Amino acid sequence: MSRPVSVGVVGCGYWGPNLVRNLRAVENCSVRAMCDLNTLRLEHLRGLYPEIETTTDYDHVLNGMNVDAVVVATPVKQHFALAKAALAAGKHTFIEKPMAASAEQCEELIDIAERNGLVLMVGHTFLYSAPISKIRAIIQAGDIGDLRYINCRRLNLGLFQKDINVAWDLAPHDISIILDIIGEFPETVNCQGNAHVTPGIEDVTNMSLSFRNNRFATIQSSWLEPRKIREMTIVGTRRMIIYDDLQTHEKIRVYDVRVERPPHYDTFADFQYSYHYGDSYIPYLQQEEPLKALSQHFVDCIRSGAKPRTSGENGLDLVRILEAASASLTSKGAPVTVASGKHSRKISRIETHHATPRVVHG
Ligand SMILES: NC(=O)c1ccc[n+]([C@@H]2O[C@H](COP(=O)([O-])OP(=O)(O)OC[C@H]3O[C@@H](n4cnc5c(N)ncnc54)[C@H](O)[C@@H]3O)[C@@H](O)[C@H]2O)c1
Repeated sequence: MSRPVSVGVVGCGYWGPNLVRNLRAVENCSVRAMCDLNTLRLEHLRGLYPEIETTTDYDHVLNGMNVDAVVVATPVKQHFALAKAALAAGKHTFIEKPMAASAEQCEELIDIAERNGLVLMVGHTFLYSAPISKIRAIIQAGDIGDLRYINCRRLNLGLFQKDINVAWDLAPHDISIILDIIGEFPETVNCQGNAHVTPGIEDVTNMSLSFRNNRFATIQSSWLEPRKIREMTIVGTRRMIIYDDLQTHEKIRVYDVRVERPPHYDTFADFQYSYHYGDSYIPYLQQEEPLKALSQHFVDCIRSGAKPRTSGENGLDLVRILEAASASLTSKGAPVTVASGKHSRKISRIETHHATPRVVHG
């Protein structure tokens, strides 16, 4: 395709305008339409981008504007119907996370995209971010040893959603990162939580994903915390990483610390844990907005026909885990085996090709 890829964005509330802004900055991409049911939002956006047509009529975007692709950034319950209509109209489609409200819906969207030879990409934004690329590189280089566990905390006051609970709203970020780092699908999911404010919609959840070889990850999600926290701890046999996304420059810190059991001892008095304390270091991160890289990738995939790094199958994997978490929530945290379906596959990690950082040994 030699002309610019033309895109229509549906859903221009809080997040959609960020996608509009980043897609506009991609070379060889033109945002042709912004669609929302809320005319006040459209009026506001017309002030920012007067050259982009605004409409409340989604049919007009699909059939009257000659766009190549559609970006869906509405609440989750609308994702399936809007994306299905886009794919049926022959449009490459990007859907914000989580991909849809059920695994069944995700499977159907994957089928339609495959049948029509269209790009289907999901907004697992963090996989396009510099900190996650760096963490992936550090782990793939073997610098932390074998991965033991991951602990994530994503907490703050609000924004309360009306159609999904906090696990469906916030945990997708953590789950997408965990699957990418571990490169495997969990065997079971446990989730406990409580709906304190809106009946039936949990605003605090604790999820754990259990993987083979005794590895596991925990995810704490909350809309009911006084402080905003976006933290992840990754513990390896040799080193540990702390990723604090709220830091401006020092988002990742690698700690050369570990605890080991003595290989053998004769009496209990001989038994001593060995604590190793070495240097910590802060890897350099290239500052780039993840949404910029994600927007560029979507346009590149449309041009080349390549499968996106965060494809429909990745979206489906994540929704399966969320469904298992919901099932566990209703049975008070009992372990639930993650269902597999037609599009089940072995999760493949994004391979990191850039130079691997070296670790300062203590
Ligand atoms: N990747 C990220 O980091 C990130 C961050 C925030 C939100 N999100 C995702 O973005 C999506 C939107 O979230 P939000 O916070 O912007 O929600 P929002 O409620 O602020 O905005 C959604 C907009 O969609 C519009 N809308 C709803 N149904 C529509 C329809 N049928 N046709 C046209 N417009 C319609 C609403 O009028 C509203 O303006 C969600 O899937 C959310 O999970 C992703």
